[in-house]
Amino acid sequence: MKSALNARLLSAAELTRQNATFADIGTDHAYLPLFLLDSGHIGYAYCCDINEGPLDSARRNAEERGRSEQMSFILTDGAAALSGKGITDYAICGMGGELIAEIIDRAPHLADSSLNLILQPMTRQEKLREYLASHGFRIVTESYSFDAGKYYVCMSVCYDGNCRDISGLEAIAGSRDSAFRGREYRLAYLKAKLSSLERAASGKLEAGMDCSADTELIEQLKEYISKL
Ligand SMILES: C[S@@+](CC[C@H](N)C(=O)[O-])C[C@H]1O[C@@H](n2cnc3c(N)ncnc32)[C@H](O)[C@@H]1O
Repeated sequence: MKSALNARLLSAAELTRQNATFADIGTDHAYLPLFLLDSGHIGYAYCCDINEGPLDSARRNAEERGRSEQMSFILTDGAAALSGKGITDYAICGMGGELIAEIIDRAPHLADSSLNLILQPMTRQEKLREYLASHGFRIVTESYSFDAGKYYVCMSVCYDGNCRDISGLEAIAGSRDSAFRGREYRLAYLKAKLSSLERAASGKLEAGMDCSADTELIEQLKEYISKL
């Protein structure tokens, strides 16, 4: 695949299956579906957004690129309205981890083992991992990237119905059963997570609060990182 797409969205493109019927939830400018169409990776895309402004921008970009015939533009909240359209791959990128979890929760048809969910949480990644595990979704691959001074993670996820609780360490570092791409970026990402946990714990300590659970998690994460 080639074309100008930032590294964060490129990792989402790489996790999309060839010839997928694709939906982009929260499409904004439609950069991701346009890239996938231009590169011949997919043949059709549903571009969805909760706001008219981003959807207009998606329509304009599609027209400029001569791709309007291969795209639908849907003003909708989340993914629930897309049931029954034969969509195989859903991208939900560039939002907080809790909002992504909420969007999945409100679209029960996504609990289907034939679907590929491409999720790119900007924040609260641990909340999203907890939600996925406890609702029977498995993270198949985590792909790490670096763009404009920041580290990002993008996940490909499928439903297998195995609901489980995960440890604090797994919520932060991911499952040992997942495949990982972009190992050097993952290491830097985890080190940044460690620093932020340490800052939060020392804040709690200064405020006289109990931070024994935080300290334990910090020690586990240090050990995990040392073995990478
Ligand atoms: C920061 S942009 C991300 C755009 C693109 N997906 C990316 O990763 O670069 C977030 C977009 O999601 C849309 N959005 C937020 N909540 C949404 C929801 N519940 N359903 C659909 N779209 C939503 C916003 O209107 C906005 O266009």
